[in-house]
Amino acid sequence: MIRYSHSLDGVTPEHLTGFFVGWPAPPSPATHLRILHASHAVVLAVDDQAAQVVGYVTALTDGILSAYIPLLEVLPAYQGRGIGSQLVGRMLGYLGELYMVDLVCDPDLEPFYSRLGLARSHAMSTRRYDRQAGR
Ligand SMILES: CC(C)(COP(=O)(O)OP(=O)(O)OC[C@H]1O[C@@H](n2cnc3c(N)ncnc32)[C@H](O)[C@@H]1OP(=O)(O)O)[C@@H](O)C(=O)NCCC(=O)NCCS
Repeated sequence: MIRYSHSLDGVTPEHLTGFFVGWPAPPSPATHLRILHASHAVVLAVDDQAAQVVGYVTALTDGILSAYIPLLEVLPAYQGRGIGSQLVGRMLGYLGELYMVDLVCDPDLEPFYSRLGLARSHAMSTRRYDRQAGR
C-alpha cells in the first residue's frame, strides 16, 4: 500500500536510502532531505510497511507564473506500478494554477510525460559534475 504525502514530517535520512541510482557522485540521504526541505513543493510516495520513502518529486516555483520540476525518482523495486505517474500527476495538480511548468528529461521519457499532458519543448542547461553531491 503506497501513501502519497506533501509533508516531510517525521521523514529522516534513514527513510531516503537507495535514491539517485546511477549517479556517480550522488547526494547523501541527509543532503537529499535538505533538498526536499528546500523545495517549494514535494510529493512523497511512502511504503509505511517498509518504513521507506519509495518515490518523490520536487518543484521550485515563484508561486505566481512558473514552476520547475527538477527531481523525480521511484526506487527500482517499486517502478512500473504507476507510482511515478501518481507523483507527477499530483504535483501538476498542486501547481495547476500556474501558467508554466517545465522540466528536463531524456528523450526516452517523452511518452511517460506526454501521457501526463506535457508537451516536448527545447531546453538549454548546464551541469557542474563536481557539484553533483550538492553543496
Ligand atoms: C521515470 C520514473 C520516475 C517512472 O516511475 P514509475 O513508477 O516506474 O512510473 P509509472 O509506473 O507511472 O509509469 C511507467 C511507465 O513509464 C515508462 N518509463 C519509465 N522509465 C522509462 C525510461 N527510462 N524510458 C522509457 N520509458 C520509461 C515505463 O515503460 C512505463 O510505461 P508503460 O506503462 O507503458 O509500461 C522511474 O522510472 C524512475 O525513477 N527512473 C529513474 C529516474 C528518472 O529517470 N527520473 C526522471 C527524471 S526526468
